[in-house]
Amino acid sequence: MPDLRVSVLGAAGFAGGELLRLLAAHPAVGSLRAFSASHAGRPWSDVHLPFRNAPGGRFEQPDPGAAAAADVVFLALPHGESQRVVPRLLEGDPGLVVDLAADFRIANPATFALAYGEHRAPGLLGEFTYALADVLGADLAGRRRLAAPGCFATAVLLALVPFAEAGLLAEPPVAFAVTGSTGAGARPRRTTHHPFRAHGFTGYAREGHRHRLEVGEQLAGRGGPGEVRLLVHAAPLVRGIHVTVHARLARPVPRPLDLLAERWEGRPFVHVVPAPPELPAVVGTNHAHVHATPLAGGREVVVDVAIDNLVKGAAGQAIQAMNLALGLPETLGLEHSGLAPC
Ligand SMILES: NC(=O)c1ccc[n+]([C@@H]2O[C@H](COP(=O)([O-])OP(=O)(O)OC[C@H]3O[C@@H](n4cnc5c(N)ncnc54)[C@H](OP(=O)(O)O)[C@@H]3O)[C@@H](O)[C@H]2O)c1
Repeated sequence: MPDLRVSVLGAAGFAGGELLRLLAAHPAVGSLRAFSASHAGRPWSDVHLPFRNAPGGRFEQPDPGAAAAADVVFLALPHGESQRVVPRLLEGDPGLVVDLAADFRIANPATFALAYGEHRAPGLLGEFTYALADVLGADLAGRRRLAAPGCFATAVLLALVPFAEAGLLAEPPVAFAVTGSTGAGARPRRTTHHPFRAHGFTGYAREGHRHRLEVGEQLAGRGGPGEVRLLVHAAPLVRGIHVTVHARLARPVPRPLDLLAERWEGRPFVHVVPAPPELPAVVGTNHAHVHATPLAGGREVVVDVAIDNLVKGAAGQAIQAMNLALGLPETLGLEHSGLAPC
């Protein structure tokens, strides 16, 4: 087992905290450094409650040079920060870089600009692999620059990749997606503040959620239509994403559950379940539950997916991708079975 030196930038945030929680218990991680400007010098347990029950370290002042002196660097920074930091980080030539932000997820600079504006380092976009770990599997071995997919994008792609690869998506599917409040990060806002969120439910980003573009690029690369209608909603949950996708199919598939079962056979974290998934069954885990229902005699399909946004949708998938990139067992450090009811 290797004794990996790992750095986490943005370690005081929600995704950063989840990375620390999982990496601290990962059998291949020998040392772990956490960088945070707002909490430099303070113990991890001041911010991340799990470290009140387990040994942790202290946050360090962010320094890409120091962070680069590692075998693996995870970036859990807000969108826009990674593209500022990564060029400096790469000067130190760290072994593996895994970015959890959107900064390197879209290979085409023109598509990137549609969602996020001009990229600061467009020359680096092509260096990153979109690390949809359950789809790429062993193809990630040896990759050194990974862009972890977005949380909505992960759920939607787990629903649609099997149909895209089979040439079944005749037109852009519609995805109705619901997220918990941790999806919006640790900084409090009105829309994440308990009195407004605890019993609320609202749609947002009606002009088009940014994740639709990474989903479109990935679907296009797998025989799909290159476009998805993504309708997102904020729900009174802390963790979790539930997505319901509706698609018209190019030819009838009377038993879509069989198609899903065949595509995900042998993949350790994607479970094709016999009924629409229950979110509490995946919360706190790196597992995804997927179910499909035929409509209109199989000419249409509804696919339901449930994941934990902070684990499968962020830190867990990033660690799964690290395992695969480094040739470690794919499930190493990610074998949690969940905590339900939660
Ligand atoms: N939350 C999710 O469910 C989720 C899922 C998938 C992907 N992601 C992605 O993961 C990244 C981190 O998300 P998060 O939810 O963990 O965000 P967060 O809770 O807001 O944490 C981001 C951290 O980045 C640091 N930071 C550095 N420069 C900053 C700046 N200019 N403005 C604000 N913060 C800055 C902050 O810590 P210091 O200021 O102390 O350094 C902060 O703790 C994002 O790119 C997000 O899109 C999140």
